[in-house]
Amino acid sequence: MRPVYSFTIVLLATLLASSAFGQKVTIPITTANMATVLQTDHNQRLKIIYTGKTLSRLSEYEQSGEVINLRSEGASSNNNAYAVAGIDNNFVEPAIAVVHADGNNSLDLRYEAHEVIDTPDGATVTKVALKDPVYPFFVDLYYKAWREKDVVEQWCVIRHDEEGEVVLHKYASANLYLYNKEYLLTSYNGAWAREMQPAETPLRQGMHTIESRLGTREHLLASPNFMLALDGQATETTGTVMMGQLAWNGNFALQFETDVYKNLHIVAGINPYQSAYHLKPNVSFETPRFVYTLSFEGKGKASRNLHAWLRDHTLLDGHGERLTLLNNWEATYFDFNQDRLVSLFEGAKELGVDLFLLDDGWFANKYPRNRDNAGLGDWEVNRAKLPDGVPFLVHEAEKQGVKFGIWIEPEMVNPKSELYEKHPDWVIKQEQRPEIYFRNQLVLDLTNPEVQDFVFGVVDDLLTENPTLAFMKWDCNAPIFNGHSSYLERENIPQSHLYVEYSRGLQNVLKRIREKYPMVPMMLCSGGGGRSDYNLLRYFTEFWLSDNTDPLERIFMQWDYSYYYPAITMCSHVTNWSNRPLKYRVDVASMGKMGFDIRTNELSERDMTFAKQAVQNYHDYKGIVWHGEMYRLASPYEHDIASLIYVNEAKTEGVMFNYLTNWRYLAEPSLRPVKLQGLDSDKLYRLTEINLYEGANTPITGQKIYSGEFLMNVGFNPLVSSSRSSVVVKVEAVK
Ligand code: GLA
Repeated sequence: MRPVYSFTIVLLATLLASSAFGQKVTIPITTANMATVLQTDHNQRLKIIYTGKTLSRLSEYEQSGEVINLRSEGASSNNNAYAVAGIDNNFVEPAIAVVHADGNNSLDLRYEAHEVIDTPDGATVTKVALKDPVYPFFVDLYYKAWREKDVVEQWCVIRHDEEGEVVLHKYASANLYLYNKEYLLTSYNGAWAREMQPAETPLRQGMHTIESRLGTREHLLASPNFMLALDGQATETTGTVMMGQLAWNGNFALQFETDVYKNLHIVAGINPYQSAYHLKPNVSFETPRFVYTLSFEGKGKASRNLHAWLRDHTLLDGHGERLTLLNNWEATYFDFNQDRLVSLFEGAKELGVDLFLLDDGWFANKYPRNRDNAGLGDWEVNRAKLPDGVPFLVHEAEKQGVKFGIWIEPEMVNPKSELYEKHPDWVIKQEQRPEIYFRNQLVLDLTNPEVQDFVFGVVDDLLTENPTLAFMKWDCNAPIFNGHSSYLERENIPQSHLYVEYSRGLQNVLKRIREKYPMVPMMLCSGGGGRSDYNLLRYFTEFWLSDNTDPLERIFMQWDYSYYYPAITMCSHVTNWSNRPLKYRVDVASMGKMGFDIRTNELSERDMTFAKQAVQNYHDYKGIVWHGEMYRLASPYEHDIASLIYVNEAKTEGVMFNYLTNWRYLAEPSLRPVKLQGLDSDKLYRLTEINLYEGANTPITGQKIYSGEFLMNVGFNPLVSSSRSSVVVKVEAVK
């Protein structure tokens, strides 16, 4: 019998399964270069029969199932498209586990129908409806395929019509099955000031899990980003690589299970830890999205796919401008008053940045916020420090020609605060147990709509009082300890909903903020880099990678972040964390979204002149860094230098950043040329070093012209050395 097909461009067409006739249904989910193919078996169970390059003959997708032989007992269900717990033919990690209203804990999911919809934003969504043959229990699998980006978002919607609640013990977003022969996983763990530390693990047998249980600042100890080199080591330009993330602001679990056939089963979703979800009849539970790309041309292409997808379809104001800034955190910490702040505005103006950002310490009166142990939660301006309030500061800054932004941490509270005194039941804690603090603070209970109103109010009040307030830094310093909500208890909602409802509560607040203030730029910060998920980046314009701003550390850290995030999202500040030369610090900050966190009045005249010029240069080329394509050219993990380039779409302009990363005696930074990427072979280019001190000599004067072909095949030597430890080069096509 002929198989039933559905390819893209079927508008709102529902293809009913021909289950009655036992026909196989084949569902290819394709982008320009990658395909995942689902197919029903003779029992209408949905299988994954292929994930790889797109095939040019559509009819051949169906045959990919024929070359797979998983028939041995116990393995026939390894490639299920959404593995279930509780029936005896599945022995792999389930994507879903439930207890039905009648207490039965079995689940079977059979294909019912599917439809393919072209969405107005240019993607193709395939929805596959699955149903339990015994219980009125339904799972719809969604695959949103972005053709040009080679990115797929996968999630599902779970619902039932049983007589009573069904308890979801596990409810993953995605289930993948890969038929490659080698899997080299790069995952990232971290800690404060050591975020995004990569580790490679060859996956050969059993289960490897990446997960978080922190509740709020979920990325602090482990990142939800992953990279898989399939079929051998990948480089920036070669190899098959899958890269992705679970886009969820909350506990996550990514499970990689390698079976005896050397196939890899991936289950990704909300971490089921302490999170059994009681689902009422006819209420839909939508999981977060699992986002991934597959590149057959190495890591660089995979990154650029994710960057383009994020900028075009997810990140708030992904094509917009960003504000360069001067932050007072490391310049003053909590020790400031109105006059001192006003005196700092001049530094921002002189440097040439757009905005002055007032950090922590500006609020609370009964328990003034003079240290991190008091005042958090009391969002009235501290009258002793700032007698004329925030409006005065906004106007003063504007008078001096800079915009004004402010720090908040609205989800958290110090026990020493009026907020805690007034609303002890707004705090997540176990009444009968001692409180546990992280940075002297506790987390507010965002499952409670009153608390959501309060958190919304923190932003709304500030923006109502200061309509020209131009920026907010939204911090989040504590994880959830002693997870218990008195709101859920009052409402008779199980405590096991806490983590999920917290994450949803935060999203509710952010949605409300964005309905009223669609574009006010906000930085997502989390006591360093504890939050950077694609889900929250729908509401934020940028994020704080780490409190560690030592430029050498940042080169490595930003290298790793850069696999998943474009430079426009990465706040990168010049600070005094290290004693590296100012130029080195400025050059490193220039490859992200630039800011300063220094006492400008302590800069020598020479340094100030240099910094001003570098900021001016940055303003000239920032569009390329923010919106261009990024190519990593020399890895600091493999060389004594790090080198990367951003190129505009027309390939007529680029900026190349080169940094010395090894000062040891035998380091050979300038021994070999760096091969450029992303240029047009046929164009001629002029290379000129910028960001130089007044009067400094450079061997890269822009007098020589090179072809793109030469630069990409022979290369260019930026001549990095200990006396030229960072080199920024402008690349311009010659007409
Ligand atoms: C966190 C942030 C810092 C700073 C402080 C203020 O640690 O990461 O940038 O804002 O809080 O308390």
